[in-house]
Amino acid sequence: MDRRRALLLENIDPVAAELLGSAGYETESVRGALDEDDLIAALDGVEVLGIRSKTQVTAEVLRRRPDLAAVGAFCIGTNQIDLRAAAGAGVAVFNAPYSNTRSVVEMAIAEIIILARRLVDRDRALHAGSWDKSAAGSHEVRGRTLGIVGYGNIGSQLSVLAEALGMRVLFHDLEDKLALGNAQRCDTLEELLEQAETVTLHVDGRAGNAGLFGAEQFSRMRRRSLFLNLSRGFVVDHEALREHILSGHIAGAAVDVFPDEPREQGDPFTSVLRGLPNVILTPHVGGSTQEAQHDIGRFVAGKLADYAGSGTTTLSVNLPTVALHGSSADRFALLHRNVPGVLARVDALVGEHGLNVDGQVLATRGELGYAVTDVSAALSPDLLAALRALPETVRLTTFGRRAD
Ligand SMILES: NC(=O)c1ccc[n+]([C@@H]2O[C@H](COP(=O)([O-])OP(=O)(O)OC[C@H]3O[C@@H](n4cnc5c(N)ncnc54)[C@H](O)[C@@H]3O)[C@@H](O)[C@H]2O)c1
Repeated sequence: MDRRRALLLENIDPVAAELLGSAGYETESVRGALDEDDLIAALDGVEVLGIRSKTQVTAEVLRRRPDLAAVGAFCIGTNQIDLRAAAGAGVAVFNAPYSNTRSVVEMAIAEIIILARRLVDRDRALHAGSWDKSAAGSHEVRGRTLGIVGYGNIGSQLSVLAEALGMRVLFHDLEDKLALGNAQRCDTLEELLEQAETVTLHVDGRAGNAGLFGAEQFSRMRRRSLFLNLSRGFVVDHEALREHILSGHIAGAAVDVFPDEPREQGDPFTSVLRGLPNVILTPHVGGSTQEAQHDIGRFVAGKLADYAGSGTTTLSVNLPTVALHGSSADRFALLHRNVPGVLARVDALVGEHGLNVDGQVLATRGELGYAVTDVSAALSPDLLAALRALPETVRLTTFGRRAD
């Protein structure tokens, strides 16, 4: 029997190939990205594709390669994949939404201390040959108040580490989040800005957050306070930040994300924040660590292997979510158009072919339904043909034994 095949592009951490190999896949790893034609050619006979941000999985790729069952985005974003076309073709897509959050938190902690001690300016001066030993404007972070805007995966982890450093933590979130440790919730952003000596943004990228932080918010911040943004570039008005740094109202800032980021390595970078005192600029590297890459490889390959082994779609970004524990000897998963009566027809077909339904789970998401059914004996070719022939069937996947 032919082995199932997986293709991993864009230099994905080797742990992914190891995990897919253990799940029974013959895995080929390629360093670079592929363009559409090369990708279509390379996907011949491939069931599972792994990519990072550069490879585009278009509707055309999906149309030309119907054997493709799942795509792993070994990164956070999934804009490079036509998710709607993938769902329509019954191709499950997984990504790694949490794997780099700790890396962002550690960088934020480092920058909070570096800004409070004005280490950037000390470093620049010494590199320029000037010995400037002074305690002026240099502070410990212990006992100071940190205001976290956006208390999600990153903001809440930062809260715990900041408290371990002895900081007092305030947070503001649109949702009613559980306050960790001694952190205190602020009902409004204004309430947080009035008290915090360091303000750090960790909101998500929803459209409503464009321009969330501008001249008004910087003016409301306490005099000589510090500001960090490691969330999204479009959230902050950089002209307003520049003015408040130059006026001395804001004592320092760390910015990792920009409204217009260069596309390619080595492309020129322009920003009104360049050259300002006590301002740290980094090229969107908050989540970029070897550890995060390794965890992304482990996490996404694990999701792909679980899907291939049992039909579990937990954390899929485009299919209905069904969480299954353990695999069954005789199981089929039917991705179908979400219209009334499909489940009844499926169960009737199972009965007509002399099998009993041992267990069944159904989830729906928009136009799609996903039903995973465990049956009492091996699946016969006749039953599978009848299920495939249902007009609502998008994709049928089987697990376990087959009766000949
Ligand atoms: N710099 C990097 O390299 C890097 C790496 C990973 C993530 N990020 C970015 O960090 C941000 C946070 O990531 P996460 O995983 O914690 O996201 P998350 O979705 O877990 O948390 C975001 C939180 O912000 C809250 N929120 C949204 N808008 C808000 C507003 N206007 N006011 C107050 N709260 C608001 C949400 O309710 C949510 O709790 C995202 O924008 C993400 O893209 C950056």
